Amino acid sequence: MIEIAPSILSADFARLGEDIAAIERGGAGVVHCDVMDGHFVPNITIGLPVVKSLRRTTSLPLDTHLMISEPGRYAEQFVEAGADMVSVHVEIDPHLNRTLVAIRQKGAKAGIAINPATPLVALEESLAFADYVLLMTVNPGFGGQKFIPTMLDKVRRLRRMIEERGLQTRIEVDGGIDRTNIADITAAGAEIIVAGTAVFGGGDPAQGVRDLLASAAQWV
Ligand code: DX5
Ligand code: ZN
Repeated sequence: MIEIAPSILSADFARLGEDIAAIERGGAGVVHCDVMDGHFVPNITIGLPVVKSLRRTTSLPLDTHLMISEPGRYAEQFVEAGADMVSVHVEIDPHLNRTLVAIRQKGAKAGIAINPATPLVALEESLAFADYVLLMTVNPGFGGQKFIPTMLDKVRRLRRMIEERGLQTRIEVDGGIDRTNIADITAAGAEIIVAGTAVFGGGDPAQGVRDLLASAAQWV
């Protein structure tokens, strides 16, 4: 099943409640929250208080993408704040499996996020502890970047890796996804599609979600 996960990074933070209501109307499956600390990535965004407030405004699952140093120190707090999904970058957590287990024990889905430059082999010892992999299709830090075309094959290889192991791990993709490339990306094996600019950039977020769903369905 294909789900659109609008990234609120491209929303209007002064009207977040209205923007979330709009993506709900459009049929979004998940709300993607980009948490950045200015250390792991060169940008600072939102944190625990915003996730807590969002929890009160929507019944959609909250998907928190942690682009922070020391994610193991904060992951459980994001679940307590109301996150349903928490992803941690493989590049920054020396005790990744412990963090994934802790997220699951708190009752949320645990995800491994992986940068474009990190080979899939880095997932090998951790896949079994994860409910999903968040495969970055741009270098994290900013919305509005261009999809890196070689990531399409990386999605295919990850799909194969998951199937070979007999796992149910879902693939989420993040960065530069729009109406022109979503069908290829879902055909490659991605199921949860993060989109910031494509949803919020056109002025009508509900329509942005509908357009993406329609484009994804066209070829699958
Ligand atoms: C990038 C973030 C993405 C980003 C997506 O670091 O993780 O979620 O905001 O935005 P677009 O769809 O504009 O690339
Ligand atoms: Zn993200």
